[in-house]
Amino acid sequence: MAQLWGGRFTKETDKLVYNFNASINFDKKFYKQDMEGSIAHVKMLASVGILTEEERDQIITGIEGILRDVENGSLIITEEYEDIHSFVEAVLTERIGDVGKKLHTGRSRNDQVALDMKLYTRQELLSIRELVLELIKTCQTLMEENIHTVMPGFTHLQKAQPLTLSHHVGAYMEMFKRDYSRLSDIYDRMNYCPLGSGALAGTTYPLDREMTAELLDFYGPTLNSMDSVSDRDYVIELLSALSTIMMHLSRFCEEIILWNSNEYRFIEIDDAYSTGSSIMPQKKNPDIAELIRGKTGRVYAALTSILTTMKGIPLAYNKDMQEDKELTFDAYDTVKGCLALFNGMLKTITFHKDIMEQSAKHGFTNATDAADYLVNHGVPFRDAHGIVGRLVLYCIDKGIALDDMSLEEYKAISPVFENDIYEAIDVHTCVDKRNTIGAPGPKAMEQVIAINKKWIEEH
Ligand code: ARG
Repeated sequence: MAQLWGGRFTKETDKLVYNFNASINFDKKFYKQDMEGSIAHVKMLASVGILTEEERDQIITGIEGILRDVENGSLIITEEYEDIHSFVEAVLTERIGDVGKKLHTGRSRNDQVALDMKLYTRQELLSIRELVLELIKTCQTLMEENIHTVMPGFTHLQKAQPLTLSHHVGAYMEMFKRDYSRLSDIYDRMNYCPLGSGALAGTTYPLDREMTAELLDFYGPTLNSMDSVSDRDYVIELLSALSTIMMHLSRFCEEIILWNSNEYRFIEIDDAYSTGSSIMPQKKNPDIAELIRGKTGRVYAALTSILTTMKGIPLAYNKDMQEDKELTFDAYDTVKGCLALFNGMLKTITFHKDIMEQSAKHGFTNATDAADYLVNHGVPFRDAHGIVGRLVLYCIDKGIALDDMSLEEYKAISPVFENDIYEAIDVHTCVDKRNTIGAPGPKAMEQVIAINKKWIEEH
């Protein structure tokens, strides 16, 4: 048991207590950020005259050696240390002697861990944002390729009106762009450096907090030392944004699972992203989509957990806050994995465009357009709605689509119908006529695709 304190204690810590308290098993994840932070701290200590240049160089060389050895596997971070901070300081002192003990001058583990968590979170935020961007690019390609791929649009999971695959994917594109911008907002709010806040009340040393903030690529130092050591808002915000990303992925997965089912057959998930059954030889299951849908729960759990942990904590640091890590790290890893896999799955899906179009034709998705036809011929909309309702009933009875009725059959229900009804209710016509911005018509879609193209170029 190697710990950084003990002077005021007369007994050894009980082993169970020690284990319960220790965080090395999970905070070793930010070993790199811990050492980066220490190097910046030491550079600053030397620049304000607290360390000599020689001491600074010795400590930095020592830390760089530890970092190298951890990364090449020759130095293992083991459980005999309480946390990553103790590990680095102990190994450093072992390697360079007493000068290593000066590393922690003007610093507390409270501002140290606040910094480490922020640096790690910032790095994860950026890699998640990159993965969202990759997914946005995949959506853009699908949108460009499918302006004329007609499919049914649904409300209440009932066929509603015809639209296109481009338009459907475009809905997710909007969600993912919002996800991206949420991550950017969080980055801007969180990017201030807590180092130099000490345990809670700053320090008596003339620390240059601007310098450490700059060395670590922050916009500047945080402005209240109590808040600095006990702020985990940025973790909560990020987990909330990640929960929203997972919710979006999960909805898309749900649609992919439906579309891939024997009943829909709109798509076929690539073999590389499907799995088989150990008993039913015919099966090809959408396990990846189901797992992503399922893993959404654990990301929500991380958010709920930290919100609950934080709600009763008086200022400033309390040990409860150590609980900010495990589920959060799990959530970061989960979201990264899900985004990468979802993107790969989406890229390799085969779309059965003929089946999608047939499905749009055979679900009365053109009924609104038939009513609009009547309105354009002077029939009040409410009456038109009733007439088309009767047409639909007639078709259901005969097991046919609106497109399959003869003109005589149409005229028997309303004499207003003429031969051009067929053109008017063709699913392609139905889509092509919807060209207000945001609608599925090709002219509208081309505008949106151009806007998205520019957005991608700018990000
Ligand atoms: N392992 C601790 C955490 O993650 C580090 C800070 C410890 N500070 C303290 N005063 N015990 O929160």
